[in-house]
Amino acid sequence: MSNSKQLPSTQSAVYINEIGEFDKIKFDSSIPVPKIESSNDIIIKNYYAGINFIEAYFRKGIYPINKFPYVFGREASGEVVAVGNEVSNLKIGDKIAYLSPGTFAQYTKITTNDYKYIKLPSNSTDEDLKIFGSLFLQGLTALTFINEAYKVKPNDYVLVWAAAGGVGKILTQLISQIGANVIAIASTDEKLKLAKDYGAKYLINSTTDNIEEKVKEITNGKGVDATFDSVGKDTFEISLNSLKRKGAFVSYGNSSGPVTPFPLSKLTPKNIILLRPSLNGYIATPEEWEHYSQELLKLYESKKLKFDTFKTYDLKDYVDATKDLEGRKTHGKLTLKIPQ
Ligand SMILES: NC(=O)c1ccc[n+]([C@@H]2O[C@H](COP(=O)([O-])OP(=O)(O)OC[C@H]3O[C@@H](n4cnc5c(N)ncnc54)[C@H](OP(=O)(O)O)[C@@H]3O)[C@@H](O)[C@H]2O)c1
Repeated sequence: MSNSKQLPSTQSAVYINEIGEFDKIKFDSSIPVPKIESSNDIIIKNYYAGINFIEAYFRKGIYPINKFPYVFGREASGEVVAVGNEVSNLKIGDKIAYLSPGTFAQYTKITTNDYKYIKLPSNSTDEDLKIFGSLFLQGLTALTFINEAYKVKPNDYVLVWAAAGGVGKILTQLISQIGANVIAIASTDEKLKLAKDYGAKYLINSTTDNIEEKVKEITNGKGVDATFDSVGKDTFEISLNSLKRKGAFVSYGNSSGPVTPFPLSKLTPKNIILLRPSLNGYIATPEEWEHYSQELLKLYESKKLKFDTFKTYDLKDYVDATKDLEGRKTHGKLTLKIPQ
């Protein structure tokens, strides 16, 4: 039924048993190691797992959890250590990067019917494994959103919120490279400097500047073509007011909390297009995954996309990492090193 290395019965993992604040986050070695249950399953021994803001939404109950213990994580790199007997495209020892729930653990099971993985070269270095375990979720979010949520065009004026954040840094680079004008918003001058280095043309400090006034100045009173707003609740009105007639509002995150319900007629005065997209809706078929994951790899490998990690934390220190992330102390990508 399967081919497998000898695996332990339990493993170290970061998880919760109930919704709540940081004190609910557990790290120990009590979580069972998954077993091959179907002939298309594989088990991966993880090396690095990228950290994403979405974990905070699960922990706080903003997004639903079906089953506890809930092991955090959405992406990782690792080595295949067990394969079901119908798996033909991967073998034990292969290194892969993949998207899946449950990656803040030493071992994760996925099924190869789920296509969201790429095979990595056998001579991948530790640095490669760190990058590819961390690049895909935020990279594909930025890449799909600027193509499908709002197709960014040269000369557009585009507002990028949290421009020095994980997704924000990538959006800033990709939008600038199209020849559009990125108006970067961040809470400190240090973060804005990073956004500038990554291609932003205009900078707005959300702590000290009047954002709407600044946008008016920059766009000669016209407003922006699009806003990529990951902050949610606190910034909804500012984004809306900053858009031009027929502008596109891409609301894609809840860093300050979910946007509160509002009457649709708010969109009418300027005929605003509003989207609330999710990455998974743009990589929902093997063809879409193949197209966008290859495009992202090309951008990274040709050095058109700069991607490095802000900090690597040990798996056991996830609570410190998410306190930093949720406390707005970070920029770019945070990664976990998984104990071997
Ligand atoms: N829809 C999707 O499919 C999808 C996919 C990936 C990510 N996302 C969303 O995209 C956003 C960015 O994710 P990320 O992992 O790259 O995180 P991130 O942007 O690196 O971190 C969050 C940043 O948001 C800003 N922020 C503004 N108000 C905040 C508040 N009240 N609390 C905390 N942060 C606040 C901070 O930047 P400043 O200090 O500069 O304000 C902070 O550094 C998240 O909302 C995430 O859920 C959505």
